[in-house]
Amino acid sequence: MKNKYYITTPIYYVNDKPHLGHAYTSLVADTVARFKKLSGKKIFFITGTDEHGQKVQEAAKRKNMPPKSFVDKVSKEFINLTKVLKLTNNDFIRTSEERHKNYVRKIWELLFSNGDIYLGSYKGWYSVRDESFVAENEITKNENNEKLGPSGDVLKWLEEPSYFFKLSKWQDKLMEYYENNPDFIKPISRYNEVKSFVRGGLQDLSISRTSFTWGISVPGSSDHVIYVWLDALFNYISALDTNEKFKIFWPADAHIVGKDILKFHAIFWPAFLMSANLKIPNNIFAHGWWTINGEKMSKSLGNVIDPIYLIDKYGNDQIRYFLLREISFGDDGNFSEKALVKRLNSDLTNDLGNLVQRVLSMIIKYNNGEILQRDEIDNEDLELLNIVENKFREYNSLMETFQFSQAIIIIWSIIRKANAYVDKKAPWNLFKENKNKLSTVLNVLVNLIYKINILIQPILPIAAKKIFLQLNVQEEQKFSYINNEIKVGMKINKPEGVFPRIIE
Ligand code: MSP
Repeated sequence: MKNKYYITTPIYYVNDKPHLGHAYTSLVADTVARFKKLSGKKIFFITGTDEHGQKVQEAAKRKNMPPKSFVDKVSKEFINLTKVLKLTNNDFIRTSEERHKNYVRKIWELLFSNGDIYLGSYKGWYSVRDESFVAENEITKNENNEKLGPSGDVLKWLEEPSYFFKLSKWQDKLMEYYENNPDFIKPISRYNEVKSFVRGGLQDLSISRTSFTWGISVPGSSDHVIYVWLDALFNYISALDTNEKFKIFWPADAHIVGKDILKFHAIFWPAFLMSANLKIPNNIFAHGWWTINGEKMSKSLGNVIDPIYLIDKYGNDQIRYFLLREISFGDDGNFSEKALVKRLNSDLTNDLGNLVQRVLSMIIKYNNGEILQRDEIDNEDLELLNIVENKFREYNSLMETFQFSQAIIIIWSIIRKANAYVDKKAPWNLFKENKNKLSTVLNVLVNLIYKINILIQPILPIAAKKIFLQLNVQEEQKFSYINNEIKVGMKINKPEGVFPRIIE
């Protein structure tokens, strides 16, 4: 299907409840899904939970719960988060579901019969936090001389029988793929990083474990469980596989991932897919990390931010707006409630909220809510009438390339122009001096708000719906409507403030 667009979030580990970092990845994917839908694409968007592995088994043990009851409980919190975030996901995949486990076993057998799996034994260091084998050159030490992994956790020594995937065999094919598909990994700095890593040489990958049991057992070798990353990555296809209607969505158009899990997605994943003779996804977008006062969010520092707390306090669109606007996608960023409140008050309340509220109130007050025609058009009116169409191409290409913050800056440059136009034209004076001009100015402004609102839909979906309702048009307007206008003679609804000021 030509018009399809398949987008995914990573599936989240259920060792603990969701935090702001998880919400961020999901909100970005949702923004893209909504943007593509408004561009006319048929969307499949999934998210879900990664429920197997040593990290989850140990977390269940700490809570004195059987792993299955534990994952059932924690995955509910992630499902709840999709509702709180108002995600438009079509499905939620859990790796403990039969549909997924059956698919992964099928894949194992396929890789095995293709000659890419062999039995050996693994000796080396392992990071439970990252569920990753750690090479000597990635290890650091703490003050007690303990070995630490890239995420700072104390590594475990493993020595156990293990099946291996012949990753080394795929090195040249991977390099060839990267060379031929320069857009495969974004941003470009990450693409270069991955290429130089692979150029440095790939070792075969241990893909089964015997020292714990919480996972999908290896077909024909039930003392082994399948390595959690091999298990987890295939969620992107197992989620489509049981429904003929959905199978056509593979290959994925975009996997959204954090920079910490790029290696798994950009190296292991395409190698597994090549071995299974499956198509490789079109794009992998790696984003940066949110820190709190410059520090990593972590339980031990007690600085983990609960997205549900933030949304209860400030609103869904508000959090989404801040996360998308505050940093360039791909960069790291520092989260603080102070910066959040400042930005919400300035951008949402003062700029957008104020524009909509005062223009619609004036239409009610001066024209009884009716849109009247424009018959005294000057150059300033014309400029604003055409501004959104003129900027649309730029907005569109920024959104297409995941430059959300820059796309928002374009929209806000229009909003600020609109507010300056209101101040300059001063409709409150025109009401006394020139009724024709007043109608023209209000007509220009109401159409401007309509068009601005088309652009903000993927970024502020709830507010955009409310504003369309106030304008008395349907609550969703496709990008192809960008040249449409609010009909003369139509009546708008009574405005209600969309972004109340937050007391600092
Ligand atoms: N289970 C794996 C993914 C498997 S996908 C086949 C995993 N899960 S995770 O729960 O640890 O992380 C999920 C996502 O959250 C990752 O993309 C990660 O980058 C993101 N974040 C976790 N903490 C974050 C921040 N502090 N800031 C931004 N995103 C971060 O990895």
